[in-house]
Amino acid sequence: MAEAVYDPFDEFNRAQAGMGRVRNPYRRYAELRERAPVHKLAVKELLGTTLVAPGMPEDIWVAVSHDAVARVLLDGETFSSRGYGRSMGLVMGRTILEMDEPEHSRYRGLIQKAFTKRALDRWEHELVRPVVNALVDRFAARGHADLVRELTFPFPVAVIAGMIGLDEADHQDFHRWAVELISIAIDPMRGMQASQKLRDLFARVLAERRRAPREDLMSVLAHAELDGVRLDDEAIFAFLRLLAPAGAETTYRSSSNLLFGLLTHPEQLAALRSDRSLMPQAIEEGLRWECPLTGIMRTATRDVEIGGVTIPEGAVVSVNLGAANRDETRYENPDAFDIHRPQRAHMAFAFGPHRCLGMHLARMETAVALNAVLDRLPGLRLDPAAEDVHITGLTFRSPLALPVLFEPPA
Ligand code: HEM
Repeated sequence: MAEAVYDPFDEFNRAQAGMGRVRNPYRRYAELRERAPVHKLAVKELLGTTLVAPGMPEDIWVAVSHDAVARVLLDGETFSSRGYGRSMGLVMGRTILEMDEPEHSRYRGLIQKAFTKRALDRWEHELVRPVVNALVDRFAARGHADLVRELTFPFPVAVIAGMIGLDEADHQDFHRWAVELISIAIDPMRGMQASQKLRDLFARVLAERRRAPREDLMSVLAHAELDGVRLDDEAIFAFLRLLAPAGAETTYRSSSNLLFGLLTHPEQLAALRSDRSLMPQAIEEGLRWECPLTGIMRTATRDVEIGGVTIPEGAVVSVNLGAANRDETRYENPDAFDIHRPQRAHMAFAFGPHRCLGMHLARMETAVALNAVLDRLPGLRLDPAAEDVHITGLTFRSPLALPVLFEPPA
């Protein structure tokens, strides 16, 4: 019997189906915030699931106000990132995410070399625009599409694969293993196997680039040097494994959320269509309003008090970026999507030493995708026949689908 055609999107959604589909967690965060900036909660209650990642304790301290979140993230000495080693580290290897100072800055200094302004400009023209346009080509003449399945899901992972320097022929495997890797909580065995397969793929390309460097991320990482120190191979593989979830899953969800905000507020979509100088603020508002990754983790290294709540040494602290972005003491009418609101920095990319390394890339990718949609799909609107399109999720949030109609070219 022929094997069914592998569809990474279906596979991903199947894996995610058990991960707590929550339509609106923000009401609860507002109630919590009203009582205190930090709360001790049972993990199972917090996640609304029995699927708790390995290494997780029963109780967790959750920071829900903007100031509490900022304080935790700024103080890496009191709030260590080492806990990621017990969860993500199992499949990814030792990544930058789990490092504390001074190791973290040294390592970050090395890989930052791959994310220069020059590299970003080159990626925009040589990679992101062609990837996005090729995807839009597939449906622009049709007059209807699902923008999640056909655009926002596939484009960031294709960009990461291209940045790393993988050949076209390896893109599908990369996508498949990346999806399996981030579904580790659902299927640990497959996650571990995917981790190994990614390592083998990266090892092959790394050996090639050591012999003959090109203008790609693999070549930069292979030759990056800071104060006479180079990245060893395992550090390179771990970083590259991290890029699939860090760079692709977040960007796919954030661009979907921004599109959802615009499609459900057609007057704002029209304003952006006719005045593209609004693009940067539209992107920031999308990230504030529905941030794609709502919670990150830290571990307290000593007893510490925040807003009258004592967090004991060894406690796992969930830093709720989504709640911080809806803090009414910082943003007026925080639940409203409003690209015209006065700009104030948000927490979607976190804060402090671990602030997202790829944020400029993510913003650029989102702008390219949005501009392509606005330029090439006139009359874009949600399909009125589509049922109940909405954003869902607890830790990761985005719409499952964005069925749209538009005018095909005459
Ligand atoms: C809208 C898209 C994105 C969002 C919302 C996002 C969000 C975040 C957040 C919240 C963190 C902090 C994690 C923590 O401290 O626990 C982070 C770190 C990181 N992000 Fe992003 N990210 C996005 C896109 C990207 C892209 C495109 C890349 C690269 C291709 C990337 C690479 C990284 C890396 C390497 C780190 C670790 C930085 C460190 O530990 O010093 N991210 N991101």
